Amino acid sequence: MITHTTRGCFISLEGLDGAGKSTHVPWLVDQLKARGLPVLCTREPGGTPLGEQLRQMLLETSMHLKTETLLMFAARCEHVHAVILPALDAGQWVVCDRFTDASYAYQGGGRQLGESAVHALEQWAIPGIEPDRTWLFDVPLEVARERLTRSRQLDRFEQEGEAFFQRTRQAYHQRVQQQPQRFHLVDSTLPIEVVRARLTTEIDALVHRHGSNHNSESP
Ligand code: TYD
Repeated sequence: MITHTTRGCFISLEGLDGAGKSTHVPWLVDQLKARGLPVLCTREPGGTPLGEQLRQMLLETSMHLKTETLLMFAARCEHVHAVILPALDAGQWVVCDRFTDASYAYQGGGRQLGESAVHALEQWAIPGIEPDRTWLFDVPLEVARERLTRSRQLDRFEQEGEAFFQRTRQAYHQRVQQQPQRFHLVDSTLPIEVVRARLTTEIDALVHRHGSNHNSESP
């Protein structure tokens, strides 16, 4: 008899620094676990010992834009092959705090590297690997900046100016327009309970759909 493990579902969370994404990551993990699902929670840049070292450099050390982009993808390549794919293959649901959309938004948009360079690296390093569902936590720039500056010491990205974050937000919105079926845009200006009520509906639909996708797969 051949046994099949259900492939897990890959969810990423995105948004500007200060958009509120990090508040919802542990909550989402708890929601999935409460539905009996095995969950792996991870983040980018990071998620592996090598990736976490790269993260520290990326957040602290100033470097050429292309170096920054290559290091983001180096961390991501390691993360995908050592952690994300094995977890999905083992049937785990993977919740990832940022993924490739952040490179399109921050390096492609914010830093003005452009979409095609990010796309080329994506195609080369991690072809065909993208989340099943991406939640984009969206707030106007002023709200994100206000939330951010009251929290703690700012890293290299968080210290960027308004124009950088405008371009980053715009690039995120462009991703949503290009792939509306993958993205779920979350109005993160709403009170947390309202956001969570909406997300609960979204989680239930996702769990339902992912389950039925699997059930309809031929052995
Ligand atoms: P973030 O998850 O916001 O860290 P924290 O919540 O601990 O501040 O991510 C760190 C920074 O990395 C963030 O400012 C965005 C940036 N980043 C990129 O510029 N490109 C990428 O591809 C990724 C994954 C992150």
